[in-house]
Amino acid sequence: MASDGYLETLLAECKPGRALPGAFYTDDALYRLDVERVWRRGWLFAGYTCEIPNPGDYITVSVDTDSILLLRDDSEALRGLHNVCRHRGSLLCDQPSGQLGKIVCPYHQWVYGRDGSLLTCRGMQETVDKSELSLVPVPVHEVAGMIYFCLAAEPPDFEAAREVMADLARPQGFERAKVAKSIDYDIRANWKLVWENNRECYHCNVGHPQYIKANYDHYNANDTSEHIQTQIDAIVARSEQMWAECGLAVTHKQAGMTRFPDAEHNIWYSANRTPLSEGWVSESMDGRQVAPLMGQYSHPDVGTLRIRTMPNFWNHSSCDHAVTTRLLPTGPHSTQARVIWLVHENAVEGKDYSLDELLPFWQLTSKQDWEICGRQQRGVSSSAYRPGPYSLDKEYNVISFVQWYLHQLIGYEGGRE
Ligand code: FES
Ligand code: FE
Repeated sequence: MASDGYLETLLAECKPGRALPGAFYTDDALYRLDVERVWRRGWLFAGYTCEIPNPGDYITVSVDTDSILLLRDDSEALRGLHNVCRHRGSLLCDQPSGQLGKIVCPYHQWVYGRDGSLLTCRGMQETVDKSELSLVPVPVHEVAGMIYFCLAAEPPDFEAAREVMADLARPQGFERAKVAKSIDYDIRANWKLVWENNRECYHCNVGHPQYIKANYDHYNANDTSEHIQTQIDAIVARSEQMWAECGLAVTHKQAGMTRFPDAEHNIWYSANRTPLSEGWVSESMDGRQVAPLMGQYSHPDVGTLRIRTMPNFWNHSSCDHAVTTRLLPTGPHSTQARVIWLVHENAVEGKDYSLDELLPFWQLTSKQDWEICGRQQRGVSSSAYRPGPYSLDKEYNVISFVQWYLHQLIGYEGGRE
């Protein structure tokens, strides 16, 4: 683990309004700090409850060296367990998902119940106290069909996040969705570069030609023309009137991205609903609906629902499908991203939707972003890299992200915060 002096030296090199020094994206020691102070402290998105609907259904999630089993127990409750046998530590389940009767260790076949309790330990029944050898539990929360877990011994509050996310997410019906497709990507970049890229749309005009047709995020205070502002005002006014009838609200009304995260108040969660471009009802290649309506929606004009939680989740939902990105850190120079496409649980592939229409918008956007991040990782690893200035108009959320991140690091430095 890095010494306090190491972090002090690095922090002294951070200049307000400028990008982080290269060591933040390249050093092993700093990566270890990130894992301990960000990834082992906060609430992490795992997946959706619709992925594990029945008792015994599970998914596994790896965070650095830890593997977590998230499963539905006999009473249909959601449970988080460390995926590590209490005998000699073998990994229990090595599949990303599946169905378990009981949890049987593949090494010497100790058997655990779906609640994590040790049921049998072949040949050792008389010599061990089974009640002391349950699988190590992991705190979990479910909100509107989204599953979160935390690796901290004393997890931070979750209720404020639940309050913000639950009402906005509920109409989307994640609980009654199904995974149409899930794709894992190995991004050749530090997880912070992936977030920094996600928190600005300065790169969108050139980097995402399809994305900018659907959204207004790429406009900001310095380049929203009168013509565009009039368009936004008109569509906001029309949406407010129309959505009110079905209980939806426009919660982001301006050009540009909603402000997130909030470093000062350690706000790591956020959700909003905002109109899509005029004539677009879905984040599809041509803006048309590409699957049956989800959740409680009775018409396709519901704009776009956005949810994001630090440090590993963002979601863009349209009337007909939802796309989530889940990040997991895999090293100083690499991040795993899983992109998950959800549709209504009754939607039938080939009949109600086709992957050819559903996937391209976010497949393209994701690949474009991962390439951008990979290129930046190579640049910030160069001996010639010098942190440059942020745009206050375009990169205000990158500034917030960096502040939030530094607060996570510093917050554990001898009570300096
Ligand atoms: Fe699991 Fe021995 S390590 S039964
Ligand atoms: Fe992007």
